[in-house]
Amino acid sequence: MVSLRSVRLSLRFVLPLGVALVLLGYAVMPLVGGLTLRWFVRDTDMRSRLIASALNDPLAELVKAGDKGRIDALFLRAIQDKRLFALGYCDENGNLLYRTSTFPESLSRSLTTAKGPEFGTLVTLPQGPLYVADFPVESAGQTIGSLILVHDMSFVERRSNETKEYVIILFAVLGIVVSLITVLVAHLSWRGWMEGVRSMLRGEGIFRPFDRPARNAELQPLVGDLRALLRSIDTERRFSDDSTTTWNPDALRRLLHQELTGERVIVVSNREPYIHTKTQGMIEVHRPASGLVTAVEPVMRACSGIWIAHGSGNADRESADRHGHVPVPPLHPDYTLRRIWLTKEEESGYYYGFSNEGLWPLCHIAHVRPIFRNGDWEQYVAINQRFADAVLEEADTDDPVVLVQDYHLALLPGMIRAALPKATIITFWHIPWPNPESFGICPWRVELLRGLLGSTILGFHTPYHCKNFLETVDRYLETRIEHESSTISHGGSLTLVESYPISIQWPSPWGVEPSVESCRSEILASLGLPAGHLLGLGVDRLDYTKGILERFRAVERMLELHPELVGRFTFIQIAAPSRSALEDYQTFEARVRNLATRINQKFSTDTYQPIVLKVEHHEPEAVNRYYRAANVCMVTSLHDGMNLVAKEYVAARDDEQGVLLLSQFTGAAHEMHEALIVNPYHIEQTASALFQALSMPEMEQRERMRSMRALIRDFNVYRWAGRMLLDAARIRRREKLTARLNQEWTDGSR
Ligand code: F6P
Repeated sequence: MVSLRSVRLSLRFVLPLGVALVLLGYAVMPLVGGLTLRWFVRDTDMRSRLIASALNDPLAELVKAGDKGRIDALFLRAIQDKRLFALGYCDENGNLLYRTSTFPESLSRSLTTAKGPEFGTLVTLPQGPLYVADFPVESAGQTIGSLILVHDMSFVERRSNETKEYVIILFAVLGIVVSLITVLVAHLSWRGWMEGVRSMLRGEGIFRPFDRPARNAELQPLVGDLRALLRSIDTERRFSDDSTTTWNPDALRRLLHQELTGERVIVVSNREPYIHTKTQGMIEVHRPASGLVTAVEPVMRACSGIWIAHGSGNADRESADRHGHVPVPPLHPDYTLRRIWLTKEEESGYYYGFSNEGLWPLCHIAHVRPIFRNGDWEQYVAINQRFADAVLEEADTDDPVVLVQDYHLALLPGMIRAALPKATIITFWHIPWPNPESFGICPWRVELLRGLLGSTILGFHTPYHCKNFLETVDRYLETRIEHESSTISHGGSLTLVESYPISIQWPSPWGVEPSVESCRSEILASLGLPAGHLLGLGVDRLDYTKGILERFRAVERMLELHPELVGRFTFIQIAAPSRSALEDYQTFEARVRNLATRINQKFSTDTYQPIVLKVEHHEPEAVNRYYRAANVCMVTSLHDGMNLVAKEYVAARDDEQGVLLLSQFTGAAHEMHEALIVNPYHIEQTASALFQALSMPEMEQRERMRSMRALIRDFNVYRWAGRMLLDAARIRRREKLTARLNQEWTDGSR
């Protein structure tokens, strides 16, 4: 049935097209007039020639005989033809001797006064449009006069008008036919197009672009545009959601309850947030030197839930129950720590071997060769599976929210996905992701990528790491990558790859803090240094990626260039022992110690040494006092995911004093533009930045510090976690909606 709506739609096509064609017809009219006139003049010429040749002989004879009566009769017979209006005969001198009574007077006058109209002349007289032609009359080969033929051309106008009418009718009919065909074709393709648009709006080819691509190929660009639009709206909304919230533990808790219906969060990492150690029969609890723990622990305290991690302390077992559970933080428990137990052999293969001799150097450009061993890989797989089993034990629904942390657990997302297809798995990669060529040297690159793609969301610190990851997947896996939405489709599920720059707790966890002055005087006193002595600070794990050697060389060079600071400046390096079972780390520690000794020998006096190297664990509270005391903090990593020391130093400086010197190869350098950004490989540049920091006016320090503090306040760790959880909530909603639409689609097409 043709509905009223389609008739109306069709008319919208037909009318303009018909009108256009009729107008076109009118535009053609003048052309038609000119053309028909030319045709008829040519026709009249031929007729004139025929008549003149037929009349020549009898006329010549009658003229010689001077027989006017018979000449008139001859002319009268000839003009019986309707189109021949008049005839006349002129002698050689142009005198009009004989003529029919119809011969126009004005024409006879012009013949006598001038040469007369030329052959083939059109004239318009009161009698109407006439065509005048003259032909010589010959007798015995001699011209004795001329015959004037006057044709009535009024029929031309009549014919031309008739032709115009036909042309208009033709164009009108043509217009209607073409319009109807157009409407028919448009109607048919409209139906197909509408189907395509409808399916597109159902989300096919958009939310799950690869499972069911857009129906019409010509809609593909539209799908792309729509997806890009949705992404930009999404990003805008994410940022506006983010920015209208004051991010703190309460906001995060609220988000979890409102958006994720209060799901219990399960965090999984290798490093545990609290380590129980026993020394001389006494059990102590330590907080490890770990950016991961610094960031995730406050989030867990806000969200509660369970944190699964390797129990690495020598008193961990006796501090946990038989399920490995410990309520933490120890004094005011907010969540549960579930410890996973590893044998020495397992730790050696999974943690030291594959994670830290393989993946760690693979992902950092620090010019240390990765080592990959079969045995390490086997342990890595087995331990990832052990973590996965623990997640399954701890999950109390079939769609838990699981936050997987870091490179030790790359296979875990895939393992959880296989067991709990509806789980929301948010994986965060705390270290850089290398380019495809670098990553490609890993013998198990495909397995690692597949494992990570079990995640619902895969987060990195910077867009650059995301781009590297997408390119790596593109190079080594058969998947579909949608760059506009930054998603990867594989085996029927979708992973969002997004950047979430990690941050720290704000406001600081320390409550009422000792004043900057007291921190400084306490530390100066502990080093036997006078008041007013300048302090530089480095806080790192003793790791070859941190640029500690380069930092010491910059200190040395600065003192060479500015000897006035020798005896007035000391650099304190807090270096937490890390992965000391590995040869690369032992060698590195030895090199750090040797370099510090060499530089100290060069500049030290009885009471002074420029570098104070503290290779020992410091609790966060103690590190915070150093931050508050230091005039400058040096973060010179050769390559670093984010580096939270940079943010912690700034957060510690509520006096808005102190200068941050920051490597351009850290994620933090992408955000903290007011730091003095350096290339740590460029010793001269770093040395000069160090001097600039030590001589920076208070006003400038305040300006820079204020701006960086505002950034950390607004982009704190609650916002980091909040953005991921908000994205996860949206994806959960969208997946539920897509599942429903797919169901309706299936039901509808039955
Ligand atoms: O920077 C990567 C990382 O795993 C962090 O997440 C963590 O802060 C740090 O290394 C600590 O390393 P480990 O757990 O080996 O002591």
